[in-house]
Amino acid sequence: MKQIQMTKNPSFSLISTKKIIQMNDVWTSYDSKNYALEKINMSIDRGTNYAIVGQSGSGKSTLLKLMNGMMIPSKGIIKVDYMTPNIKDKKFKNMMHSIGYIPQSLGLVKNITVLENILLGALPRLNQFQSLFNKFPESETQEAKKILKQVGLSGKEDRKAYMLSGGEKRRVAIARALMQHPTILLADEIVSELDHVTAREIMDLISEAQKRMNLTAIMVHHDIHLALEYANRVAVIKEGAKILEIGVEGESIVDFQTGDMTRDEIMEMYADDSKK
Ligand SMILES: Nc1ncnc2c1ncn2[C@@H]1O[C@H](COP(=O)(O)OP(=O)(O)O)[C@@H](O)[C@H]1O
Ligand SMILES: [Mg+2]
Repeated sequence: MKQIQMTKNPSFSLISTKKIIQMNDVWTSYDSKNYALEKINMSIDRGTNYAIVGQSGSGKSTLLKLMNGMMIPSKGIIKVDYMTPNIKDKKFKNMMHSIGYIPQSLGLVKNITVLENILLGALPRLNQFQSLFNKFPESETQEAKKILKQVGLSGKEDRKAYMLSGGEKRRVAIARALMQHPTILLADEIVSELDHVTAREIMDLISEAQKRMNLTAIMVHHDIHLALEYANRVAVIKEGAKILEIGVEGESIVDFQTGDMTRDEIMEMYADDSKK
């Protein structure tokens, strides 16, 4: 197998319009004693279907929270579309609306309907009066209905979110994120608890939307198999440090740092231990 170049640390003096996310030597901590992430360098091209893989506790969710500004680094620089993510920063608010973040818990409102949950994605576009009274213009309702169909929830618009199956709940969370008109989609272990068939349906749905809308999709998984199957690029994190970045094209791994390993060996090493 040919030896391939490692991903170089991004240089911020040479910011490329191609890059939507750049992390340079990023460290972060929850308690100012231990680092949850150490020395992360990451550079993600616009329009990539990107996967982050690692075992439980390796820092995957923390990485997504850094990208949407819910956490800020202790050291290092992050740029998301040229901006430094921080939810407390008013300037970042507009950018945040274009980041569709789906937390592992999905964050659906249980007692409202599927359509109402999807419409929440349009909230940032409403004026003060409209958002105070949840008065969605007809155009937004029509769009929500269109997205509802696209994600395969036809006929379920009036169903309360708590009545849905695991797969359907994920479809609602994806639809709500798409309703935001995102440029970036962050999904935290969205298929982890699903059976194999449903997991694939959800992955197909996201991949299709990613291509159609030219989104940058960044998905966290704890199992490398789906990541290798769907992503263009896979970063593997172990104990808070990025140890590997793999480019995937169709069936073949096109580059990775330890160029003498086979795809099967990588799968074996980095597959989720709990499933072995
Ligand atoms: N709210 C928190 N407070 C303190 N430590 C946390 C918190 N969330 C995560 N951590 C710690 O940070 C590390 C990375 O966690 P996380 O990003 O949730 O991992 P993953 O998503 O890969 O399971 C773990 O050691 C975890 O215990
Ligand atoms: Mg997590």
